[in-house]
Amino acid sequence: MKPFLLRVLLLAFSILGISLLHYFTPLHLHYLHDIFQRFYYLPVILSSLWFGFRGGLACALAVSVVYAPHILFQWGEGFALGMEKYLEIVMYNVVGGITGLLAQREQSRSRELQRTAEGLEESYRNLRENSERLIAIEEQLRRSERLSTLGEMAAVLAHEIRNPLGSIRGTAEILRDDYRPGDSKYEFIEIQIKETERLNRVVEDFLRLARPQAVVPYPCSLRDELEMILILAAKNANDCKVHLSMHPQLKSLDIIGDGEKLRQAFLNIVINAIQATPVGGSVTISASLSDSTCVIRFKDTGPGIPPEIRERIFEPFFTTKRDGTGLGLAITKKIIEAHGGTLEAESEVGTGTTIVVRLPAS
Ligand SMILES: Nc1ncnc2c1ncn2[C@@H]1O[C@H](COP(=O)(O)OP(=O)(O)O)[C@@H](O)[C@H]1O
Ligand SMILES: [Mg+2]
Repeated sequence: MKPFLLRVLLLAFSILGISLLHYFTPLHLHYLHDIFQRFYYLPVILSSLWFGFRGGLACALAVSVVYAPHILFQWGEGFALGMEKYLEIVMYNVVGGITGLLAQREQSRSRELQRTAEGLEESYRNLRENSERLIAIEEQLRRSERLSTLGEMAAVLAHEIRNPLGSIRGTAEILRDDYRPGDSKYEFIEIQIKETERLNRVVEDFLRLARPQAVVPYPCSLRDELEMILILAAKNANDCKVHLSMHPQLKSLDIIGDGEKLRQAFLNIVINAIQATPVGGSVTISASLSDSTCVIRFKDTGPGIPPEIRERIFEPFFTTKRDGTGLGLAITKKIIEAHGGTLEAESEVGTGTTIVVRLPAS
């Protein structure tokens, strides 16, 4: 509103100024009147530039109204002279109208250009979003391709490694029988057996991750599966002197899913939590239903996961443990996602970690 008022005032003052010049300049100074007459074009053109067709015309009319008495009453006589002056008045109006029209067209064109530019910017943003999404999908595709080649390799590897591993273990056990516990050879053979077990575990985990996981869904109770986890992991927790519990006692929480695979997934999470928790700490499992989603939380009082690796813990082969395979959470993620669920880690360094699993309820 302010610039509008300022402009109108400016126009009014300039018209007034020019008119005063006309009214107070003696009539015999012809050439001055001729010059002043042309000054009127300035406010007319300015007004049409600022306010378009109607603005130009209004200003020209205003000029006509204040200028006309000067011609009528001061010049008065001489038809030819009067004619010229009246023609000038007509010209003010023509110039005001035409300039206003042109300015208006220019303005609407520049508005249109601006709209086009905004549209372009919008589509550029869309394009960038889409291409980012595309890159993400491509990355996913590459990963799953890698995994499917891994799958084939895994099948071969499993065959090539497990059988000889079985023989090594079997013969080591036979050899061990020749020695008594405490004998250094007995200990060496024990190590051998433990290491074959570890290798076997790696191969098995690897297979589990790489093989296409066919989820066989059936109605099952999450509570039953989680209670089973408590039993399965009890020995582990005892060995590590970690308190493992379920809290609070759950209602049944029914889902349609592959209970066996889910148990595997939960077990991986719980074992990690127990391993991360120091002696005397606790691992607590809780589950609840919200908006037809089952939310299962595995909370531990371990050291937490530093933010810089929080995203990486679900990657295959990512491990911070000396004898870890880095496959546990990758398998878990695959299983949860095959159930249409999500998996995430909430963690605060020094306080603990909560792994949150969300599964659609039946
Ligand atoms: N509850 C947890 N607390 C702290 N770190 C964890 C926890 N769970 C997983 N991690 C981190 O994630 C890594 C990957 O876990 P996982 O895929 O199960 O492989 P692995 O147990 O063989 O190392 C672990 O090495 C560990 O650094
Ligand atoms: Mg693990």
